[in-house]
Amino acid sequence: MLNIAIDGPAGAGKSTVAKTVAKDLGLIYLDTGAMYRATAYYALQQGIAVTDEEAVKTMLDDMSMDIKYEDGAQQIYVNGINTTPYLREHYMSKAASDISALPPVRYKMVELQRGFAKTHDVVLDGRDIGTFVLPQANCKFYMTATPEERATRRYKELIEKGQNVDYDTLLKDIMQRDYNDSHREVAPLKQADDADFVDTTAMSIEDVVAHIKEVVHIKTKPHKEEPVSTDKGISAKRAKKIKKYYQPQKSFAFYRFLRVIMRPMQAIFWPTKVVNRDNGLGVEGNAVYTCNHYSKVDTFIPCFALFKREAHILAKHELFKVPIAGWFLHKMGAIPVRRGEADIDAVKSVLKVLKDGKKLLIFPEGTRNKEGSQEMSEFKTGTARFAIRTKSPIVPMLYYTSPKLFKRNYLYIGEPFTLEEFYGARTPEQMHLATEKVRERMDETRRLCNEYVANLKKKGKKAKK
Ligand code: DC
Repeated sequence: MLNIAIDGPAGAGKSTVAKTVAKDLGLIYLDTGAMYRATAYYALQQGIAVTDEEAVKTMLDDMSMDIKYEDGAQQIYVNGINTTPYLREHYMSKAASDISALPPVRYKMVELQRGFAKTHDVVLDGRDIGTFVLPQANCKFYMTATPEERATRRYKELIEKGQNVDYDTLLKDIMQRDYNDSHREVAPLKQADDADFVDTTAMSIEDVVAHIKEVVHIKTKPHKEEPVSTDKGISAKRAKKIKKYYQPQKSFAFYRFLRVIMRPMQAIFWPTKVVNRDNGLGVEGNAVYTCNHYSKVDTFIPCFALFKREAHILAKHELFKVPIAGWFLHKMGAIPVRRGEADIDAVKSVLKVLKDGKKLLIFPEGTRNKEGSQEMSEFKTGTARFAIRTKSPIVPMLYYTSPKLFKRNYLYIGEPFTLEEFYGARTPEQMHLATEKVRERMDETRRLCNEYVANLKKKGKKAKK
């Protein structure tokens, strides 16, 4: 079953988002807050105080709850009576928060929710779904917004419904509920370690929905298995080996040996002067090196001409299928990547490399510039995402022109920079802005590179005269 958990405090927009995501993905939506509300409603109907644990516990013995869907909308029946029309009254929020803190209530609701999730593909929203109800959920999100923003949203919603409410009271209630929900003993509101954090303060509902769908897509998309055929395909053994290549190399003895041979050869065949070598070598620990991409050989040039230790590059998955080349790439520290799809294995490998304090060389354009023009095409957001997730500095690098046999070329290294202002960011907009910053720095490096080469040429002409 597919289970998507969306947790977060009151008013973060969970139910609207969960409903839309469920509808778009053809799943059922389960509003678990409504279950606590229905329990509180039933207690109030019975004249039982929502904080009286003993009385509520006895009440639960005779309380049955059925979740039904009528015209696609969730309805909660308690002992055969539909409570749904009464659950959204303002006073019910506090009552639900109070009753939800009682352990017997939680155990009963959690049991119902687990049973539901076992038999349905479902999006659940609540407070403890990812941490307690379904720690094995396929995808987990923690959605929040500032209390002020949440109070403003609730205020607008209630005013539109014609209810007479006061903003300050709403804000106070929200803060009180945040406190209650996150300080109760059993399964308090908190972000699961593996939940995707979404701050919706400055996001539209559409953006949040798009983000969630994107993450769900990435996390649940089955990987296309390698075609295993006898003639032009690859053997099952080889397919297994490629999978192993996603584990970044640990020992680089072969790479270092190779470097001794390759450096002088490269100096003859693709003579490349590295300008501002210190910029490139001065960064300690993990770093993302970005570069423009003209030819197949430019992937290797920095590996041998600049880095003293290994740098990991990304290489097309298909190349790993080629027997010797695949092994060679692996030994070079290359990570296989399936093009044209969100390759979660590649993402994991890259994050591991960077988290281990290693270097990554990446081409932000994603593909090769086959025209050989200086103008770079649009950047993919991957570079920014990796640098943000691992807090890695970025070192911008630029080839002056496409490397050509026996022709002198330049690899200009710009000033390293960070995307510090985006740390913690996850939304598509923030990634877009961060990517723009990478682009600006690469453009600036291009300008400096051209200036450097123009100066060299001028000096060369003067010397001739
Ligand atoms: O999401 P809501 O406002 O409808 O939830 C009402 C109350 O129910 C909320 O204050 C906390 C509680 N609740 C909970 O404890 N666990 C859940 N999974 C969902 C809601």
